[in-house]
Amino acid sequence: MKVLIVGSGGREHTIAWAAAKSPKVDKIYCAPGNAGIGQVAECVAIGAMEFDKLVAFAKENEIDFTIIGMDDPLVGGVVDAFEAEGLRVFGPRKNAAIIEGSKAFSKDLMKKYNIPTAAYETFTSPEAAMEYLQTAKMPIVLKADGLALGKGVLICQTREEALEGVKTLMLDKQFGTAGDTIVVEEFMTGREVSVLAFCDGKTVKCMTSAQDHKRAKDGDQGLNTGGMGTFSPSPFYTEEVKAFCEKYIYQPTIDAMAAEGRPFTGVLFTGLMLTEDGPKVLEYNARFGDPETQVVLPRMKTDMIEVMEACVDGRLADIELEFEDNAAVCVVLASDGYPLAYEKGKVIEGLDTFADKDGYYVFHAGTKNTEAGIVTNGGRVLGVTAKGATLKEARANAYEATKWVSFENKYMRNDIGKAIDEA
Ligand code: AMP
Ligand code: GLY
Repeated sequence: MKVLIVGSGGREHTIAWAAAKSPKVDKIYCAPGNAGIGQVAECVAIGAMEFDKLVAFAKENEIDFTIIGMDDPLVGGVVDAFEAEGLRVFGPRKNAAIIEGSKAFSKDLMKKYNIPTAAYETFTSPEAAMEYLQTAKMPIVLKADGLALGKGVLICQTREEALEGVKTLMLDKQFGTAGDTIVVEEFMTGREVSVLAFCDGKTVKCMTSAQDHKRAKDGDQGLNTGGMGTFSPSPFYTEEVKAFCEKYIYQPTIDAMAAEGRPFTGVLFTGLMLTEDGPKVLEYNARFGDPETQVVLPRMKTDMIEVMEACVDGRLADIELEFEDNAAVCVVLASDGYPLAYEKGKVIEGLDTFADKDGYYVFHAGTKNTEAGIVTNGGRVLGVTAKGATLKEARANAYEATKWVSFENKYMRNDIGKAIDEA
């Protein structure tokens, strides 16, 4: 079959790599893709938000199956656009992707269906939000309702910071209309875990767990980023925690969405915090995580395309998801300065080293082909993933492999997976 993948980051490179392993797949296209994706797929110059062009391309090229990697097109209704033309597509429809597209929606859903999450209030008026914050308990968390590249969350230690935060989100509109509505949420503490799950509208099957590192600098310092590295599985996600989440979080979420007339098909990503009072939902995403995917899919034994087709066809219950009994670590190689200002266009050396190394992968996030070779083309440039028998071994392997690649301004965190030492 012919597959089209929509997106251009490390997540989409990993999805393309997994699709290429499937015996069912003959040809892969990716829109718009990047230099690494170009090694397993044919990249086509169509943007992820150009729905008409994507649909036209899929029809002209007789694409059998399309996989949407990114959040923006999902929240914008790309799946509905494909389905309207009778095309097979993996991802939630617009009315289900809202679980990521609106934090107010997801919080109200959790409240209505008793899914454990932090206490919250929603505000559409900055005055009302500020009044509430005069007496609210600190620290407190402010979240822009809409999509904000994972950056619309402000953790405020003091009342002054919280009031300033309302100004940033609602008056200065730092995240545009995403901040027209805000959610003000109780501050929680605990370990964070990301759990990605395949869903077909009624059945939910979880993948192995992972943990991201969102801050730019070692020791969880610096600004929030899209994610600087991941490990999988999380040793803190015990069998007991897993059983709790299956019973009180994942299945209830899928049931709630179905009951609301918004059946969820695709990947549901639950961001959890393991608090003293038990696991609670931090957020939902309507897609694979980036860079969680870079440690989860390399450990998956089941054919990804078969699982995705089962989701679209509503027969996920018949699928047995299997993962390797090992571990993986992904270290993101970024351009120094990310997530603020950084330079692009630096030649990347050493990528070929990965070609013949089993259990080592270099997934491209921001790269581009030029006459000079493959160059940097984004803040997050590459995700270096390595497997190992244990998390410690995987971490040592991943850091060893980061040395194989060089480019000017290469920056990485040196403590990805360090938390596992405490497990
Ligand atoms: P989100 O995009 O909602 O996952 O938030 C981004 C990050 O902010 C999370 O990964 C947490 O580290 C942090 N965060 C979000 N909500 C809370 C909360 N209620 N309490 C503490 N930290 C939070
Ligand atoms: N790694 C976090 C995300 O994909 O949203």
